[in-house]
Amino acid sequence: MKKKIALLTSGGDAPGMNAAVRAVVRVGIARGLEVIGIRRGYQGLLEENLAPLGPRDVSNIIQRGGTILKTSRSAEFVTPAGQQKAKAILERHGIDGLILIGGDGTFRGGTDLGKIWPGLIIGVPGTIDNDVCGSDFTIGYDTAVNTAMEAIDKIRDTADSHERIFLVEVMGRHSGFIALSVGACGGAEEILLPERPFDVETISRRLLEGRKKGKTSSIVVVAEGDETGGAVKLAQQLQSLSKHEFRVVILGYLQRGGSPTAADRLLATKLGAYAVELFLEGKTGVMAGEVGGRLCATPLRETWERKKPLDTFLLSVQPQLSA
Ligand code: F6P
Repeated sequence: MKKKIALLTSGGDAPGMNAAVRAVVRVGIARGLEVIGIRRGYQGLLEENLAPLGPRDVSNIIQRGGTILKTSRSAEFVTPAGQQKAKAILERHGIDGLILIGGDGTFRGGTDLGKIWPGLIIGVPGTIDNDVCGSDFTIGYDTAVNTAMEAIDKIRDTADSHERIFLVEVMGRHSGFIALSVGACGGAEEILLPERPFDVETISRRLLEGRKKGKTSSIVVVAEGDETGGAVKLAQQLQSLSKHEFRVVILGYLQRGGSPTAADRLLATKLGAYAVELFLEGKTGVMAGEVGGRLCATPLRETWERKKPLDTFLLSVQPQLSA
């Protein structure tokens, strides 16, 4: 009897999830496994939305953003009753292993399920936020940074023409990975991160000093989770401190879409294939990741319990870069 693995994508979609699905399906089948796709994440599992996946089901998807398996955030699955129901469904379908492509919420759910279901559970980090320990980069992050960077380049053109100050809000509810990278790549005058408290008066003063020094445009990159509550509120506060006008752009869900970059396709392909290998090795409760160019398995719990640090060097030179 062939061993059966099921896979799902859960939480916020990320460009490259499809490339990971493709790798799991193709490598799984090549290694003699039966692969079952669960549609609509944990919610789909509870609705018994399972169907076999073959190599042709994943043709022509490596370049597509989003997830062909669909995704969701399930309130039912986080309850003990929901998890018991999921266990019963996995048992009824004879599933031996579950591959979860998502972020910290997905892995928390998988860890809880692992306490009551004896199958093997392997995570694959798929989130634009990059806030998962155990992999230098998560699938989708590179594409999201590139998307936001291109947007900032365009905003810079109009900011420069009108000599305006723009606040650009990027995603990252609890983490500043996207904001820091995008700010550095876009030559932002200020980068405001949830991890780093700041004072609005100081930001206002620095922006106006920049004007006096001859800056014709200024871009402030604001992570959506920043302590003032995002770019709109920050603009109001800055407005009340000076006569200057501030324009706001919220990039929002735009950052989650689009065709994955080469870096994301490669990462997704490697981690999807590696997740299958980890299953075949009998590993469970781990996430497939890449650290320092090497594939490695990290206990799922560590992926959210340990805080992944921002690039400290980049943080230290940022004030000089934006002077
Ligand atoms: O995918 C991660 C993320 O983009 C966060 O940065 C953001 O706060 C969140 O998802 C919003 O997702 P949703 O509105 O789909 O719950």
